[in-house]
Amino acid sequence: MRHADRPVLVTPREHLYRRREGDFVSHWSGALGEPAAVYGERITSIDEVVLRRWDPTRSKLGAALANGWEGPLPRDGERWLYLGASTGSTASHVADLVGMDGFVFAVEKSLRPFARLLALAQRYPNLGPLLGDARDPMAYLPIVPRVDGVYLDVSQPDQVEIALANARWFLRPAGAVVLALKTASMGRERSAREHLLDATRQLETATEVEETLSLEPYHKRHFLIGARPTGRLYRPEDRPPTTRPARPAGRRS
Ligand SMILES: C[S@@+](CC[C@H](N)C(=O)[O-])C[C@H]1O[C@@H](n2cnc3c(N)ncnc32)[C@H](O)[C@@H]1O
Repeated sequence: MRHADRPVLVTPREHLYRRREGDFVSHWSGALGEPAAVYGERITSIDEVVLRRWDPTRSKLGAALANGWEGPLPRDGERWLYLGASTGSTASHVADLVGMDGFVFAVEKSLRPFARLLALAQRYPNLGPLLGDARDPMAYLPIVPRVDGVYLDVSQPDQVEIALANARWFLRPAGAVVLALKTASMGRERSAREHLLDATRQLETATEVEETLSLEPYHKRHFLIGARPTGRLYRPEDRPPTTRPARPAGRRS
């Protein structure tokens, strides 16, 4: 590979790399799994770091990066709660970004993708799959500690409510919510932009929306939204934001 073509580290705190490919800037994450490829993505290496190419057609977060996302991203050492993990294509990139000192709790409710997610976790030391319904956060409250970020990609009409309910229980006050909004799940009678506006308004009842980005042309009628909690997110009856995080059993470092 010529030097100019090599992926370049975005910032030292993240395991995220960029590479110019003609008009397109590709993104790569520093692979933690062995073997590295999870969904058939391209693999390369640089200075002994194995990198996985983030395919924007297979991942909403990958599409957002390709479209110039400037919102919150998982960073080295952070804990993220990932809702709607499916077989782990994006969750594995998130696990790469948080690195060995971070952890990703990956919730998936359907058995078939969950079986593949479970198999993936055998070779991903910082990925913890949870078979569960993201509408019922109480079910995994004993397992999931406070997290730095909540990522949601469930393609459900009540996706914003699910994101807020989980953020309320698990997100630390300075954390981030990243929501992959599928407007087609919210009905066809309104335009994608109108649904985005509704979702943003709903999120702003308890968070400050920092970034919204269309995921076209990779994912039709989808947006990625990044938000930070405000004081209105936390209600006195919920777990206080100062609760000390704990690692799940068997995952202590
Ligand atoms: C669009 S796919 C997720 C793709 C995945 N995030 C990725 O990029 O690799 C949506 C997933 O959310 C799951 N899902 C839907 N509703 C859910 C819920 N209430 N709780 C947990 N998972 C849910 C579905 O089973 C499906 O696997």
